[in-house]
Amino acid sequence: MSSSSAPVKPPSDIHRAWWKESSVYQIWPASFKDSNDDGVGDIPGIISKLDYIRDLGVDIVWLCPSYKSPQVDMGYDIADYYSIAEEYGTVADVEKLIKGCHDRGMKLLMDLVVNHTSDQHEWFKKSRSSKDSEFRDWYVWKPPRYDENGNRQPPNNWVSHFQGNAWEYDEPTGEYYLHLYAVEQPDLNWEKPAVRKAVHDIVRFWLDKGANGFRMDVINFISKDQGFPDAPVQDKDTPWQWGDQYYANGPRLHEYLQEIGNILKEYDTFSVGEMPFVKDVDEVLKAVRYDRNEINMIFNFEHVDIDHGPYGNKFKPGNWKLTDLKSFFERWQAFMYNNGGWNALYWENHDQPRSIDRYVNAPQSLRSAAGKMLATVLALHAGSPFIYQGQEIGMGNVPIEWGMEEYKDIDCLNHWNLLLKSKDSNAEAQTSARKEYQKKSRDNARTPVQWSAGPNGGFTGPDIKPWMSVNPEYTRVNATDQVKDPNSLYHYWASVLKSRKEYLDIFVYGNYELVDRGNQEVYAYTRAYSNSKALVLANWTDQELSWDAAAQKVNNVKEVLLDTYGPASAAQGRFSGTQWTLRPFEAAVFLLE
Ligand code: NOJ
Repeated sequence: MSSSSAPVKPPSDIHRAWWKESSVYQIWPASFKDSNDDGVGDIPGIISKLDYIRDLGVDIVWLCPSYKSPQVDMGYDIADYYSIAEEYGTVADVEKLIKGCHDRGMKLLMDLVVNHTSDQHEWFKKSRSSKDSEFRDWYVWKPPRYDENGNRQPPNNWVSHFQGNAWEYDEPTGEYYLHLYAVEQPDLNWEKPAVRKAVHDIVRFWLDKGANGFRMDVINFISKDQGFPDAPVQDKDTPWQWGDQYYANGPRLHEYLQEIGNILKEYDTFSVGEMPFVKDVDEVLKAVRYDRNEINMIFNFEHVDIDHGPYGNKFKPGNWKLTDLKSFFERWQAFMYNNGGWNALYWENHDQPRSIDRYVNAPQSLRSAAGKMLATVLALHAGSPFIYQGQEIGMGNVPIEWGMEEYKDIDCLNHWNLLLKSKDSNAEAQTSARKEYQKKSRDNARTPVQWSAGPNGGFTGPDIKPWMSVNPEYTRVNATDQVKDPNSLYHYWASVLKSRKEYLDIFVYGNYELVDRGNQEVYAYTRAYSNSKALVLANWTDQELSWDAAAQKVNNVKEVLLDTYGPASAAQGRFSGTQWTLRPFEAAVFLLE
């Protein structure tokens, strides 16, 4: 193996925890499974599929927001943290879901969305009712500024994550409120102790119901620079600029996280924080180092922002190379391993397009092979793997032919509506934006799960119009067929997760080292624990290729543990000598001498 081997920690220096060994299956309720034929997924639907999830070999189910909500941002706008959206079910249904998970040896993770609420939450209704309301300062209110012509302007120039300015003027009280996301998602003011106390009560409520932890929405945005300064101008085409340096990992973040951490540790929970805009990795470490009592791990964004255009504009084309992807992973792997942190490993979630369309470009006949390769590469890194519903069967992006009426996501629709109104809107600009939506819109992740080859992909009743159209690929990509087929991507995912558990020391606790760094066609790395070592090797292309094992000093295969083209036993002996042949998108995992 390469001569610059990173030191392998002695086992006594390695921190072990059940949550490091766990893998997670993410459910987005609206599109998972409809049990009552109203065209929207629901909690009884999820319960009906718990065996399917357990058989994949995951340990934890993450339920995306299911609380009462006007659904402007599909539940990330919460109107009541203590009740469940009618279309999804009831609190009693969630209790049944928790029990259903526990009965099968799995845990349940809830989504904690507390950077903002819905504008329909009672707190905000009261806050907006008057400047004298006791809830006024539960949110961030500021007076207008006026320009040299006396025109009213927002308090600063921050851009909202859903396009446009991040402040909304409220006529009756003559002030603006901050909304880093939609106008209907006002930001809470975490400086106010009563807000924090209210969040702590929510956390305890769900933990007392038996939930086993939280995924925390944009949790690094909760502490803002109280000066609310203008952001430096980067994109000259718009007045609205990214203000992240004033609210991402802000001044009091760790204090707030430790307050929550104190509650979480009473219950021995799993926690993962979503953290966009992370630039200072030491900041992250403060949040995730195992002895800090904050959260267990974070979702970082480098590898999913890889195809965004200039100024972080995701609906502009962006280019990337395999070596970029490898270097992101390498950096986080080493950083966390050496410093007592932990990684959340993901290709997909409800905000990202399908991995099989983002990271590889596979012809129809190789899509399953490509999905298996992506599963292998992701899940055997150091970290806790997250699988997003449908990823386990290789669901793809929405069809290119779909018109705008099929798109439902507020982020994408806001972008489209702004474009239509802008002076730059012409046929070319519209075609180019539509191309990017098909590649990167969140809608790609949100089509209903394809359960069968029957009408509506088995997501809802045959005569029902689902809230979002089912991707027509359901006739060839669906769960029923894959459960029956031992060579399917679904079963392959199960075998990867099984190997990860079987060789826990290596794949969970082992050191990571990138191999063949400059190769643009092959992704290879080793994991090493004490005297044991494994090699993960993946052909990232749709062509057969030859890999120079000798040049990487790999001459010591003891056993093939996994091979994406069939049983590992059939691949023993194929990987010897100096040059190894890798089939299109083939990945294999080896135990080394
Ligand atoms: C991140 C969530 O993942 C996304 O779906 C949501 O729109 C924003 N946070 C706002 O809550």
